[in-house]
Amino acid sequence: MNIKIGGIGAYLPKLVVTNDRISEFVTTNDEWIVERTGIKERRISEGENTSQIAIKASSVALKRAGIKGEDLDLIIVATITPDMFMPSVACLVQKELNADNAAAFDINVACSGFVYALETANSLMKSLNYKNALVIGAETLSKVVDWTDRSTCILFGDGAGAAVLVNDEKKGIINSYLKTEGKKGDSLTIGALEFNTPFTKEKSETKQYVEMNGREVFKFATSAIIKAIDGVLENTDVSLEDIKYIVPHQANVRILDYVARKLNLDINKFYLNLDKVGNTSSASVPLALNEMYEKNMLNDGDKILLVAFGGGLSYGATLLEW
Ligand SMILES: CC(C)(COP(=O)(O)OP(=O)(O)OC[C@H]1O[C@@H](n2cnc3c(N)ncnc32)[C@H](O)[C@@H]1OP(=O)(O)O)[C@@H](O)C(=O)NCCC(=O)NCCS
Repeated sequence: MNIKIGGIGAYLPKLVVTNDRISEFVTTNDEWIVERTGIKERRISEGENTSQIAIKASSVALKRAGIKGEDLDLIIVATITPDMFMPSVACLVQKELNADNAAAFDINVACSGFVYALETANSLMKSLNYKNALVIGAETLSKVVDWTDRSTCILFGDGAGAAVLVNDEKKGIINSYLKTEGKKGDSLTIGALEFNTPFTKEKSETKQYVEMNGREVFKFATSAIIKAIDGVLENTDVSLEDIKYIVPHQANVRILDYVARKLNLDINKFYLNLDKVGNTSSASVPLALNEMYEKNMLNDGDKILLVAFGGGLSYGATLLEW
């Protein structure tokens, strides 16, 4: 038995924030941002929270898969920007979709989250005999961006993508590759709550927004993508030439230009849309997949490789047959 994507959906907040708009409050300009990152604009939530955009993306995916919330056995949300610590975004989605038969939980693997959630669902569906699962990557990163820091606030956007996973006799997920390098985690962080109890020995001040060593992450990303692509193809009978599209996590187009050159691949093999959405963390891969679906780019039997990297530091890839 195989597990395949039976329906895909996405949702982007309505507000388009251009580079020019950002240059109204930090010292930057469109030319610098486009040249250094490839990003021209991003969508920013005006108050819709992660669960709300996740629900909108999920409704589209469920409709396309032809199933209802009550048919779901499992809901996994990959996010680093939950509405609250508890309940999880997945439980908030479950409530709204009336998915009363599902087990629901969130995972935090930053920008690699969707790829990790896919394999978690794939494995659980096989081991527990589940029929239908909903895997979501959803982020409202604008909540955790320091809008006075020009080196990070230009990079990120909000959005959600969702995939319904179903059983299939012939095709679906072929292989996954997952790795983390915790020792490098300091180069990309978002702080959480501080200790401030009657028992706290030394109070500290944690910054509750994205802090990043851009150059370190850039270096890590280029090698991580190549390792994940090699890793997911290893021990399969699929080679890089057999892959129709690589759907990467998108943080900076220069990272992907470098990888394409290194692997001797046409950059057009990578599906790119970060010029319009920026880095949407765990939502970037399903947002791209959804666009490809809507453009009729995904055909039966196509071999697709999803690859992601991010905080943790983490990386991973999924090889699948559409
Ligand atoms: C963040 C990133 C775009 C910065 O690009 P870079 O080419 O490394 O630029 P640097 O950080 O070296 O900065 C170069 C100069 O531009 C300036 N600069 C930084 N942000 C700027 C901005 N938004 N506008 C104008 N100038 C800016 C810096 O202050 C620096 O000036 P200086 O030379 O006078 O000190 C790039 O490092 C990157 O994309 N890294 C990977 C990030 C990533 O993938 N994160 C997410 C992982 S999921």
